Amino acid sequence: MNEKVLNHPLITHKLALLRDVGTGTKVFRELVTEISIFVMYEAMRDAKLEETTIETPLEKMETGMLNEDHYAVVPILRAGMGMVDGILNVIPNAKIGHIGLYRDEETFQPVEYYYKMPEGIADREVLVIDPMLATGGSASATISRLKQDGVTRVKLLCIVAAPQGIKRIEDDHPDVQIFCATVDRELNENAYILPGLGDAGDRVYGTK
Ligand code: URA
Repeated sequence: MNEKVLNHPLITHKLALLRDVGTGTKVFRELVTEISIFVMYEAMRDAKLEETTIETPLEKMETGMLNEDHYAVVPILRAGMGMVDGILNVIPNAKIGHIGLYRDEETFQPVEYYYKMPEGIADREVLVIDPMLATGGSASATISRLKQDGVTRVKLLCIVAAPQGIKRIEDDHPDVQIFCATVDRELNENAYILPGLGDAGDRVYGTK
């Protein structure tokens, strides 16, 4: 099992607010940010710290600190952008890359229309973010593209996942760990997650 699902009453509470059809754009964005912080917290559990010496007001101490420069965050456009503020709350100095994909109407395969990564992407740990892991097609294509560029360490962070999306990533990229706030029941015939929260991009940007 490559997925880690947050199981906490606070997350259930915040997801209930997020899912509710009556939740407006401002609160929806705030909730996406808050939940992203919790998902990120879990995703950083195995972070390697660099040994350092600091001075408290009372004495010197040996401790560990994160090298934030080691990370790149890659939102999948457009809904992934909604999670960026939350992730940067946790590691404000992370570099950010962007990938945009659309679905070919005939083949249903994801087609890349935008790809811009920070320098030295192959040497970074890459956190791919997308709030909804539905079929897993976009996330899988994004991870494959990053691997083409030499990336070897990828984590996938999302808010709501469908079992099909998790399986797709596990099949295509068994090396990639998935962190999500919840796993929902299924996909409908239009590949929307049920019960889900609707179109995350539309709800973040207020486009519907
Ligand atoms: N993308 C969304 O925004 N919502 C879904 O339910 C599935 C994919």
